[in-house]
Amino acid sequence: FNYHMTHFVMSAPDIRHLPTDAGIEVAFAGRSNAGKSSALNTLTNQKGLARTSKTPGRTQLINLFEIEPERRLVDLPGYGYAEVPEEVKLHWQRALGEYLQKRNSLKGLVVMMDIRHPLKDLDQQMIKWAVSVAIPVLILLTKADKLASGARKAQLNQVRKDVLAFTGDIQVEAFSSLKKTGVDKLTEKLDSWFGE
Ligand code: GTP
Ligand code: MG
Repeated sequence: FNYHMTHFVMSAPDIRHLPTDAGIEVAFAGRSNAGKSSALNTLTNQKGLARTSKTPGRTQLINLFEIEPERRLVDLPGYGYAEVPEEVKLHWQRALGEYLQKRNSLKGLVVMMDIRHPLKDLDQQMIKWAVSVAIPVLILLTKADKLASGARKAQLNQVRKDVLAFTGDIQVEAFSSLKKTGVDKLTEKLDSWFGE
């Protein structure tokens, strides 16, 4: 698949507003500020495709992108950001939960975590959910450029060891949008999910 061909389709506040649930979708999830939108831009080689921000909570809608007909990428709202109004948080949680549980075309989940703070409670919940509904997971440890190579490898090994406890189809890789690290691993995985 040529990910550079990806284009924006729409933003939706909840799944009722999404297009027909057919084809294959892969979603990018993770805590607020983990680097989801940046990773999408790196993957597609398009700087402004998904909006990025220093302010956590930037992505508040389900953002849908199309690589080609019937093959879509979804940038999900980040979870775990405390500084938003309770009402907004509740809406996100509901929209996110609904998407994950009801969207039949969802065939793979990329969970992004800052390599310095991996596997927080909500990350673990997300992984547990995916495993429970047999959706394969690719964990990207983002902002890998923030650690020296020794610490980076140690963290990667630690997380690989930790996720064995979930006994699911889970792969863990280091990623950096800044240095373009791990982009090949991401495209490989997406190709395998989209290729079915
Ligand atoms: P929400 O939409 O709020 O959930 O955030 P997000 O997960 O989409 O994060 P986003 O891509 O907007 O990035 C958040 C911040 O992290 C921005 O300031 C980015 O520039 C920075 N960032 C993202 N990826 C990297 C990376 O690989 N390395 C470094 N050093 N910074 C990064
Ligand atoms: Mg975002």
